[in-house]
Amino acid sequence: RVITGQNPQSAKSVGEAILKELQKYPLRFDATKYTTQQVTQGTQTLTVRAYEGIVYVANPVEEQYQQLNIYIPEAYFNGETINGFNAQTAPIFLPNGIGGYMPAKPLSLTGGNKDTNNSLIMALSKGFVVASPGARGRTSATGKAPAVIVDLKAAVRYLKYNDKEIPGDANKIISNGTSAGGASSALLGASGDQAAYEPYLKELGAAPATDAIFAVSAYCPITNLENADKAYEWQFGNLSQYKTMEISMLDYNVQRTYKTGTFTPEQTKVSADLKKDFPAYLNSLKLKDSKGEQLTLNSKGEGSFKELLKQTIIAAAEKAQREGTDLSKYSFLTLKNGKVTTIDWDGYITYMERHKSPPAFDGLDLSIGENQLFGDATTDKKHFTPYALKNSVVESQMADANIVKLMNPMSFIGNKNAHLAKYWRIRHGAKDSDTSAAISLILATALQNNHYPVDYALPWDKPHSGDYDLGELFTWAEKISR
Ligand code: DHB
Repeated sequence: RVITGQNPQSAKSVGEAILKELQKYPLRFDATKYTTQQVTQGTQTLTVRAYEGIVYVANPVEEQYQQLNIYIPEAYFNGETINGFNAQTAPIFLPNGIGGYMPAKPLSLTGGNKDTNNSLIMALSKGFVVASPGARGRTSATGKAPAVIVDLKAAVRYLKYNDKEIPGDANKIISNGTSAGGASSALLGASGDQAAYEPYLKELGAAPATDAIFAVSAYCPITNLENADKAYEWQFGNLSQYKTMEISMLDYNVQRTYKTGTFTPEQTKVSADLKKDFPAYLNSLKLKDSKGEQLTLNSKGEGSFKELLKQTIIAAAEKAQREGTDLSKYSFLTLKNGKVTTIDWDGYITYMERHKSPPAFDGLDLSIGENQLFGDATTDKKHFTPYALKNSVVESQMADANIVKLMNPMSFIGNKNAHLAKYWRIRHGAKDSDTSAAISLILATALQNNHYPVDYALPWDKPHSGDYDLGELFTWAEKISR
């Protein structure tokens, strides 16, 4: 904004106009602006105050997404407790509804897909305060990377800045999300207070506060995007048949449609090229197992990292068996005395099915959602890996390396000045082929190697999805919060 003229009167009126505009989106929480809603979970009915559509920055650019919905049990305004929590101690559950790196509205108790509000209802019934942030997404010129994470950080800052005004403990923010939302949740937890995001937050007029959070829950995080193509071919490269998925939006809900195909000769080569590159990346991370031994892969992609992944899958199968699943129908598992002794890798991968053609994320023709994520205000779609840039079949540009870095939680784990979330819970379905399980195993192991407690599992037979084990999720969330 340009303030013109020397006339102090006009400068003053412009100043007043600016102030008025700023107050259109006050950063201070207004406890009087709520509606009353009822939440039913089983036999329990809870009255909550719903503070919906709070724009969490002073200068929004897409205010329909840069909003928070906050739900607070009425009991906390009356000095009561729920499940041992009160207005001072209740953790804040922060579920995002981000999918496909598309723009997302905050989740609500009633709206959206029928399943999206389940975690909110469960959280409230267990005495958590709920704050759901919306965020910009890849389909708009102003929603390109790193907008999604900048918005989530701004939402966290709003909650921290208003900790005294909003019941619940802003030092106990537990983020949750699925897929792109899981990736965003993990990134939020890994990137707390990193200075590189500051200019973006400043421009939005984010509240002055920390954006470090307490804990992360991430389901099937579609993360570490610049290494995900290699990981995908390492895991799925032997399958030349695929069933690809396309993501679109309908009424603010992400839609997924599938089509089948077989590799072309070009795709066969791309798959082999990428597969060959994965061991070097994995080995460069110098990850260690729980005994301190380095996790490695040889040039064929075999080694202790793959063995760890197999053991994690076997553990998931055995858990399912303990809970009543008949494992005998999974012919790729060898069973002996109620234990799984081996897993036939090729058989397992065939059962999983391949959901993406190569490259899985950085399309050589820029046609994949992630290409659009890494576009900018003037160029809708870009490459973000050297391989796809080099082998691009269209006129194309490379995304800014710094922005790619700002989208990857791996960028910050182990940094001295990192304010990482203290607790992590990561789930990736054992039948999820939207990204390689290596991606979440790498994330979980890197965190563990840096002494963060990680509850990691690959739930048996689960496809690409989230929020399917809310009972266990909240058992974990309560335990870390007490
Ligand atoms: C999602 C799924 C994907 O396969 C992907 O590449 C990005 C996002 C999702 O479901 O959010």
